[in-house]
Amino acid sequence: MQKSSLLQDVAVGIAVFVLAACHSSKPVGAGSPMMAKAAAKPADVTPANVAMGDSLFNRGNCQRCHGLLGVGGTGAPALDGKKWLQLKTGSYDEIVSIVTTGVPAANIKDPTHKNPMGARGGRAALTDPQIKAVAAYVWTLSHQ
Ligand code: HEC
Repeated sequence: MQKSSLLQDVAVGIAVFVLAACHSSKPVGAGSPMMAKAAAKPADVTPANVAMGDSLFNRGNCQRCHGLLGVGGTGAPALDGKKWLQLKTGSYDEIVSIVTTGVPAANIKDPTHKNPMGARGGRAALTDPQIKAVAAYVWTLSHQ
């Protein structure tokens, strides 16, 4: 009994090792942006968060400036990640941070954007979980 369970442990150990090794070895195309983005999906980008964020963004006030689905509007840039004005990498954490603090007038990069973005996207009532949800949705816009 003892011996066979030890053997089992060893077998499982080897299987885990082999799986891990396969995972880390780069398949052809691993360097493509698609693969890199898929691998780096943040933990908070869950289907539930994305759905809640979609509703908050497109029925709330984000879309008034950023356009429905974040395609961009006269007052604020598109959020598709083709060109970030404020964010450096477009990471999930950066999105949470900028939505939380907003963009004061002095920091606006494109002068055609007349109105600053208020803290919490201009909606003081947004809770931290709601900001995480809206950020999860915004993250998907540049990681499709
Ligand atoms: C009053 C208009 C307004 C509203 C409402 C608003 N924003 Fe913004 N947002 C801006 C402006 C202006 C900028 C900075 C653009 C610039 O630098 O030219 C910005 C920047 C951003 C950026 C960084 C974009 C980049 O290119 O780096 C993100 C992400 C963002 N907003 C998300 C949101 C979310 C999510 C909401 C809703 C919770 C929201 N915004 C609501 C006006 C707005």
